[in-house]
Amino acid sequence: MKLLVIGSGGREHALAWHLARDSQLHKIYVAPGNSGTARESGVENIAVTNPEALADFAEKEKIHLAIVGPEAPLAAGIVNIFRARGLKIFGPTKEAARLETSKDFAKRFMSRHGIPTAAFETFDNAIPAHDYIDLKNAPLVIKADGLAAGKGVIVAPTPEEAHRAVDEMLMDKKLGPAGSRVVIEDFLEGEEASFIVMVDGKNILPLASSQDHKRIYDGDRGPNTGGMGAYSPAPIVTPEIHAKVMREIIRPTVLGMEAEGTPYTGFLYAGLMIHEDGSVKTVEFNCRLGDPETQPIMMRLKSNLLVLIEQAIAGKLDQADAEWDHRVALGVVLAAAGYPGTPRKGDVIDGFPEQPGDTKIFHAGTSDKEGQIVTDGGRVLCVTALGANIRHARKHAYAVADDIHFSGKQLRRDIGYRALKPV
Ligand SMILES: Nc1ncnc2c1ncn2[C@@H]1O[C@H](COP(=O)(O)OP(=O)(O)OP(=O)(O)O)[C@@H](O)[C@H]1O
Ligand SMILES: [Mg+2]
Repeated sequence: MKLLVIGSGGREHALAWHLARDSQLHKIYVAPGNSGTARESGVENIAVTNPEALADFAEKEKIHLAIVGPEAPLAAGIVNIFRARGLKIFGPTKEAARLETSKDFAKRFMSRHGIPTAAFETFDNAIPAHDYIDLKNAPLVIKADGLAAGKGVIVAPTPEEAHRAVDEMLMDKKLGPAGSRVVIEDFLEGEEASFIVMVDGKNILPLASSQDHKRIYDGDRGPNTGGMGAYSPAPIVTPEIHAKVMREIIRPTVLGMEAEGTPYTGFLYAGLMIHEDGSVKTVEFNCRLGDPETQPIMMRLKSNLLVLIEQAIAGKLDQADAEWDHRVALGVVLAAAGYPGTPRKGDVIDGFPEQPGDTKIFHAGTSDKEGQIVTDGGRVLCVTALGANIRHARKHAYAVADDIHFSGKQLRRDIGYRALKPV
């Protein structure tokens, strides 16, 4: 059976690696993939990215099903295109993907369906936006409506910073069309966690919980990144919190999307803010798996991913069950010089160590050049390890991460600190 994974990051490497466990049964294509996917047995990269060209490929090669990793092809309607041609694909339609592609849509949708989230207003013009900031108390959060590759959210501790963010987006058009409309929302206190589920339009299968580290430096300092490391499970997602999130956020979202005529299919990611008092609010939705959360989640998934996806495509997730390794998985991202600004490319990566069975080096921004693996993006690798507890997982992951060298390598040394109980 031939499968197609769309994307080129660590998330897609983890998906392809998991699916390739049955490599004697399947051939997996990754479009366009990276140096890591190129080296997995049973996996082959193809240099195709355009959605129509991917559908042509799927038709010609008789691909059994396609799985979409990143948001850009979903926003471009790749699921609509595949389905119109009778090709099997797992992901949301362009209309359902608005939960991620328009912050204004997501916020209004949550208001319509009573889903807890920060109070907000949306603006197309700077003058009323400035008036609103003057009315509210800082801190405030200014968000570009559209996709902005992680650069569209400004947490403004002071009114001055909020005014500046509005001007940059609405007046200076710093983010282009993505920032021509902004959402201004109240700042939420609490601890963040990632809650990812599979949805078949009606039924929901929750995946293991996880937590990400957004800032570039230790102690959650410095600018935001795509994520510098993650682990699963997230101890903050207790059984009570889990039940509450399903009841107050996930189920109303899936029911609401169905009721509005845009049923949701695919992976759905809710970014949570969990308050000390046990209340939970929705920070955002993503219409895909998180990166790097997917890497530890795939390390822990014992069930056959293809079977789960087939059940989802068949609308039978109510009959599905996911089995998880009881151990903790933790991934440390190695980022390139210059990240999260413009990353330097072409640095030679060496010292790829032997990977003990419970450790896996997932590639993200890597490519092959003159017989060597070189950096080719902001987040280069994600070294992920299983351990009996968070301390063990962390020790294994850093032991491998420290053996890998490239000029300008950046990594956080404190991945998992929130899950480490004070001793
Ligand atoms: N209302 C809020 N209160 C406090 N912090 C917030 C709020 N909204 C966003 N943030 C912070 O900003 C980060 C990015 O916000 P958000 O998740 O909406 O943006 P995004 O660009 O879609 O992120 P991602 O790249 O994860 O999809 C959040 O992870 C959180 O740390
Ligand atoms: Mg998002």
